[in-house]
Amino acid sequence: MDNLKEKAFQDKIDQDTRIEPKDWMPENYRKALIRQISQHAHSEIVGMLPEGNWVTRAPNLRRKVALLAKVQDEAGHGLYLYAAAETLGVSRDDLIDQLHTGKAKYSSIFNYPTISWADMGTIGWLVDGAAIMNQVPLCRCSYGPYARAMVRVCKEESFHQRQGYEILLTLSRGTEAQKQMLQDSVNRWWWPSLMMFGPSDSDSPHSAQSMAWKIKRFSNDELRQRFVDACVDQARILGVTLPDPDLKWNEERGHYDFGEIDWDEFWQVVKGHGPCNKDRIETRVKAYEDGAWVREAATAYAEKQAKRKEKVA
Ligand code: 3HC
Repeated sequence: MDNLKEKAFQDKIDQDTRIEPKDWMPENYRKALIRQISQHAHSEIVGMLPEGNWVTRAPNLRRKVALLAKVQDEAGHGLYLYAAAETLGVSRDDLIDQLHTGKAKYSSIFNYPTISWADMGTIGWLVDGAAIMNQVPLCRCSYGPYARAMVRVCKEESFHQRQGYEILLTLSRGTEAQKQMLQDSVNRWWWPSLMMFGPSDSDSPHSAQSMAWKIKRFSNDELRQRFVDACVDQARILGVTLPDPDLKWNEERGHYDFGEIDWDEFWQVVKGHGPCNKDRIETRVKAYEDGAWVREAATAYAEKQAKRKEKVA
């Protein structure tokens, strides 16, 4: 019987019919979505930390307000995505416990330190730029709640990328010291941004199935290539050099060739040995524990309201 169901399910996927929470789905499809959506949510929440580090040190009120808005947006993205994951029958507490105990991943990029104001611009330009490249196709993901969450996330990411690029444009027209700060920041963030797209296709255990189920619409390498192609001219406008001597236009391919990614570094960071992994998780665990009273108060209030409604009914 399940074979018939599996065939009917795959036919729906092949016909680009959205899968909704109440639809029958193979257990492995559900598990694949929980894995990806929850780790996406963890990335959004942990991703608040590198930028939060600069809110009190923004150079003026306008920059502070934009950075605050961005960090708040990331929190909202995390909540949408946890809510999307919960439609698959998992509890938020379990997902957050998986993050805190290291059972679940979050994007490697957020394990690098933000050591200058230029990093706020570079994160907006490169990190959110890479996120947009990866998230726009997810608006057409086969799973309804995930795809719909992505539509709003992508609109907000565009603002994130624009505010970041504008920070860098300002620095690129500044003093020599500001130009150097800009170049130093791009040097530190370029390669880790390319790593955001995941391992190369040949080393990606999930891609084939994820694409068959139309969770992933393009492969890791395809999206990474699109990102590189998009960044080269933007870097030229900023007057920065992308730290890759092998970067050059390949007329035959119609794309930029670029150098080899340091996959040892990638897997070291993914496995928890990056510059900030320990600090990021400790910060998240402390924030969660410090916020316990808010969750308890909200739960108590909700229970009281429910009892009051029962009495009235
Ligand atoms: N950091 C950490 N882990 C990574 C990774 C990265 N950059 N890239 C891949 N991995 C992990 C995968 O999670 C998987 O591990 P798992 O089996 O324990 O989950 C393993 O490496 C193999 O990778 P695959 O390519 O086979 O895995 P996927 O098919 O899931 O592809 C992905 C990886 C492209 C990240 C995909 O999961 C995806 O598109 N996720 C949704 C988008 C997302 O999570 N983006 C993260 C950044 S969010 C962000 O930037 C917020 C913005 O506001 C700044």
